[in-house]
Amino acid sequence: MDFLKLLNNNSIFQDIHSAAQELNVKTFVIGGFVRDYILGRPSKDIDVVCLGSGIELAELVALKLGKEGKVTVFKNFGTAMLQAGEWEVEFVGARKESYNRDSRKPVVEDGSLEDDQNRRDFTINAMAVSLNKDDYGQLVDPFGGVKDLKRKVIRTPLDPKVTFSDDPLRMMRAVRFAAQLNFDITPDTFDALIEQAGRLKIVSAERIADELNKIIMTNKPSYGFKLLYHARLLHQFFPEMVALQGVEEREGHTHKDNFYHTLEVLDNVAEVSDDLWLRWAAILHDIAKPPTKRFHKKAGWTFHGHEDKGARMVPGIFRRLKLPMDHKMKFVEKLVRLHLRPIALVKETVTDSALRRLLFDAGDDLDALMKLCRADITSKNDNKVQRYLRNFDKVERKIEEVEEKDHVRNFQPPVSGEEIMEAFNLKPSREVGVIKEEIKEAILEGKIRNNREEAWQYMLEVAGKMGLEAEKK
Ligand code: CTP
Repeated sequence: MDFLKLLNNNSIFQDIHSAAQELNVKTFVIGGFVRDYILGRPSKDIDVVCLGSGIELAELVALKLGKEGKVTVFKNFGTAMLQAGEWEVEFVGARKESYNRDSRKPVVEDGSLEDDQNRRDFTINAMAVSLNKDDYGQLVDPFGGVKDLKRKVIRTPLDPKVTFSDDPLRMMRAVRFAAQLNFDITPDTFDALIEQAGRLKIVSAERIADELNKIIMTNKPSYGFKLLYHARLLHQFFPEMVALQGVEEREGHTHKDNFYHTLEVLDNVAEVSDDLWLRWAAILHDIAKPPTKRFHKKAGWTFHGHEDKGARMVPGIFRRLKLPMDHKMKFVEKLVRLHLRPIALVKETVTDSALRRLLFDAGDDLDALMKLCRADITSKNDNKVQRYLRNFDKVERKIEEVEEKDHVRNFQPPVSGEEIMEAFNLKPSREVGVIKEEIKEAILEGKIRNNREEAWQYMLEVAGKMGLEAEKK
């Protein structure tokens, strides 16, 4: 691997080199940047480690670049950051760290390059490239990181028990890197994951969610989830998903394994969308199957109401996992609630009002919902899959026709509350709500069309039945 070319083609490295020379500190590019360069995934985040003060080095580099005063210093961590054109460079002094057993906060001492490499998470993240005069551009790879990149394995530089207990977040990172790079985790490193999984409890929910979301955003997220499951990491923070696993048999009736089904749906969604929240909807669409599961002598296994109960479980899961509680959560909740609705519309005899109701309930999220429903078809029988997909095409065409006619996708009441109040000289009251609701229902049911004239007429009728008289103008 030719690092000289990289260093010579990008002046930022020469600037760091000459500042390091001036300060007489040994300096290296280290970590993810080196890994990604070897993998041919160019990255703009450079981590620089020096055997001295990272902050002083950052300040001198900034001075050379005419960016004096532009260094962001994190005194507590002894690190400094500098934005230089397209590059974001982080400087740190080489460290030897030991960790306090009960927290992730390390006790930091100055150390050698070797100490610094020892304390890193994985062999592929512990490689350094020299920026020093005598061996400029040379790779320092004490743990065989290059070999592990070739073998496609995730492995810790030290005994994995030590590396993970120093910082349990690394257990999530092991799975995340395996998932992103499509690597294996070596058996001894994997055994340590299983053994130490319980230590994840000292890691904050935010950091776990961060890694989890990166796993969810990989091309084939099922792989990362299977690793989390087998390492028993998933059990630490997502018991509802673990509960999906398993097949029960009674009197010859079985049901599908909802964990593996969910993962298939997630992979299917990942093939057609990069939307993290649509992927979350796939993860959670059947989450209430375990708590709604019942056995009936004739019908076998049922999961009645799992879509409603599942939707009700979404806020609690999001809150605990420290996922956003805003419109993104509402979107996931809505998709879980609606995920069976399009299937019910596949019948030949489906009415326009059923189509209008789905349009009204799904609104702008209808396309996302249809993607989820298509992904939810996981039959092994390809003919069946094709037939279901064609049925969904039909449903979508019908929905389009209805939308063209009635425009209920972004339903705006054709007569507003204020207008109703004015028409009947009413104060804000229950009656106003009732009239508005009746108009909406009449439109969805197809009794009247979605326009102002018909809505106004209908309003007069409804109000008349309620004994209200219109104001004379
Ligand atoms: N590191 C570590 N243990 C951690 C976090 C980070 O040893 N818990 C080290 C690794 O050497 C890693 C480097 O710090 O390469 C930088 O960390 P980070 O920026 O989080 O990850 P990257 O490896 O750069 O990868 P990505 O940008 O994909 O997160």
